Amino acid sequence: MKSKAKFLTLEGVDGAGKSTCIKFIKKYFLGKNFNYVFTREPGGTLLGEKLREILLHDKMEPETETLLMFSARNEHIHQIIKPNLKAGLIVVSDRFTDATFAYQSGGKYVQKEKINILKNWVHEDLKPDLTLLFDLPVDVSLSRLNSDGNLDKFEKEAADFHTRIRESYLTLAKSEPKRFEIINSNQNINIIEKEVYLALDKLFL
Ligand code: TMP
Repeated sequence: MKSKAKFLTLEGVDGAGKSTCIKFIKKYFLGKNFNYVFTREPGGTLLGEKLREILLHDKMEPETETLLMFSARNEHIHQIIKPNLKAGLIVVSDRFTDATFAYQSGGKYVQKEKINILKNWVHEDLKPDLTLLFDLPVDVSLSRLNSDGNLDKFEKEAADFHTRIRESYLTLAKSEPKRFEIINSNQNINIIEKEVYLALDKLFL
């Protein structure tokens, strides 16, 4: 196995097809014989997974939600992300701080300044090397979600909430074009697979 310590994050509206793309990313790393670890937020640690249950199902103030997201994230960074990067592994996190800007600020109007304070407190020294943003129109993502059933509290939100999230993500991507790669999730799966590989090539070749 080759050592390529990089921090990758996956983002997008609910129903954007991250799970399918995770399979492509794993295939790419295995093909290149890279050592990697997949993890997720909220979650990734024992405490983080307990917080995830609460965050995805319990009603709470948007600021409480923001603070709990960062509590889970602090554990995740100390127990999983940093130790694995230090050991030379690629760390892929299914969501990270961009999600807090998109969901809690874009979706629920928590002030960006407050999220920036938490971000600087919890991980001033840690930033993704690459963020794949899976993007698609909200009507498509919602129809995918509704055909799945068993929705969590975020997935049950109205279309305008998801629209604000999509717009927030696209604004974030525009502000950091070098870090973000936008993948159009509303196209043939073989094309999506190729676009994922091209984005990874830019980082790893
Ligand atoms: P997912 O694992 O299916 O993406 O679900 C995680 C949910 O949590 C998703 O709806 C986005 C939401 N979320 C936030 O609202 N803020 C955050 O900071 C993170 C990491 C996730």
